[in-house]
Amino acid sequence: MITIDNLLPAGFRESSLRSDVATGLTATPKWLPPKWFYDAEGSALFEKITELPEYYPTRAERAILRAASGQIAVASRAGTLVELGSGSSEKTRLLLDALLAGGTLLRYVPVDVSESALRAAGSAVDSEYPGLDVRGVVADFDAYLGLGASAPGSGASPGSGDGAGPRLVAFLGSTIGNMMPAERAVFLSRVRSALRPGDAFLLGTDLVKDPSVLIAAYDDPSGVTAAFNKNVLSVLNASLGADFVLDAFDHVAVWDAEAEWMEMRLRSAVAQRVRVPGAGLTVSFEAGEDIRTEVSAKFRRDGVAAELAAAGLEMRSWWTDAACRFGLSLSVPSDG
Ligand code: AVJ
Repeated sequence: MITIDNLLPAGFRESSLRSDVATGLTATPKWLPPKWFYDAEGSALFEKITELPEYYPTRAERAILRAASGQIAVASRAGTLVELGSGSSEKTRLLLDALLAGGTLLRYVPVDVSESALRAAGSAVDSEYPGLDVRGVVADFDAYLGLGASAPGSGASPGSGDGAGPRLVAFLGSTIGNMMPAERAVFLSRVRSALRPGDAFLLGTDLVKDPSVLIAAYDDPSGVTAAFNKNVLSVLNASLGADFVLDAFDHVAVWDAEAEWMEMRLRSAVAQRVRVPGAGLTVSFEAGEDIRTEVSAKFRRDGVAAELAAAGLEMRSWWTDAACRFGLSLSVPSDG
């Protein structure tokens, strides 16, 4: 059985895209939030990225989940699996299998900003796992986690776990790396305050490594990542009536050694003006000027533990793949 609960106010997508674009493209330097990559085309391109030989994070995290999901099931005894940013729910099946084998799981709550992705992934899980209660939540976890407590304008929330045992809240894929450090602190505190005693938090984090490996992962020779990056301009063209010419921008991937994050940028190949009527803007670019489209932070175990601790979460387990490329942590609310 599947239900989908849309917690986004009407017109939310359009108004938040408009205000993000108005803010980011009038800033110096220019930037756009990475969440706007993921229309149907962008989501399909991301799925292709996960299959590239150079893009190791998805395979590394899957290998960790394959090895650790039994331990995660025993440690969490979860009745409800809540997955933030569930996307295609592909790696989730490893967790679902382990939690079902442990005999505790009753409910799966995928939370995603894309209702179409949620419907597709939720329906697939629903048909593969008969008897599992699948309750999709359309929410933007920049604003609200979809985890219960103070759902805007709604009463009991599907993620609240009532009658479905302790919750395991999973945030996989190193999506947390897309947040700036201050945003991560706010996000982790929100996760912490949504957890109750007995609940647990599973976090996937890509790790600091040789920059040449990172750069290859974000600048593959087949150009899939370049197409994914430029797709954000297609989103602005389609949703805001903008007239970006994709060929007038180049894909750039940069390692920032100080901040320990990868950046994707779109570099204007020429001096140009672009109209963005839906945001009430005309944007001027100098030749060689960048729009930063994504930050993808890379982590170290101690840093992850410290950020969790600062939010009131205690790391209980830490797993990596054999090559130490990716980390997965299981945390619980700290006492007091
Ligand atoms: C899905 C946000 C984790 O940052 O590695 C892939 C997105 N960007 N290639 C990442 C992405 C460029 C990805 N996340």
